[in-house]
Amino acid sequence: MKNKSALFAIAILLSLSPITLLAEISGKVIVFACSSCHGNKLKALNLSQNYINHELPQTLLAFKYNNKYATIMDRISKGYTDAELGYISDYLSGENQ
Ligand code: HEC
Repeated sequence: MKNKSALFAIAILLSLSPITLLAEISGKVIVFACSSCHGNKLKALNLSQNYINHELPQTLLAFKYNNKYATIMDRISKGYTDAELGYISDYLSGENQ
């Protein structure tokens, strides 16, 4: 009985970890793709912590849905799901490092 519960717990942990891992990697990998234009962790944009937490997700969604003028960010943001665009600010604000 004890062994069965231990196996059950391990099975749950194993089934959850890829999901967590994917969420953790996404922000980092996406931001890496932005670095060619904006530098490491978007440093060239000089974004404040407040902007990263509150305005960045909205700005990226606005680019994606053509609500903010862009020459290229509209095309780049369309390459990601809405959730993935949210991972960007999660990663930059220190969550999911
Ligand atoms: C090919 C170069 C390029 C890449 C790659 C790129 N950007 Fe941009 N980014 C731009 C340009 C150019 C602008 C100005 C808006 C426009 O013309 O599209 C911009 C604007 C922005 C802005 C708005 C800044 C402001 O002050 O209004 C944000 C935020 C941003 N980019 C985030 C990102 C993120 C996040 C990624 C990665 C998913 C990324 N960018 C990838 C070129 C790039």
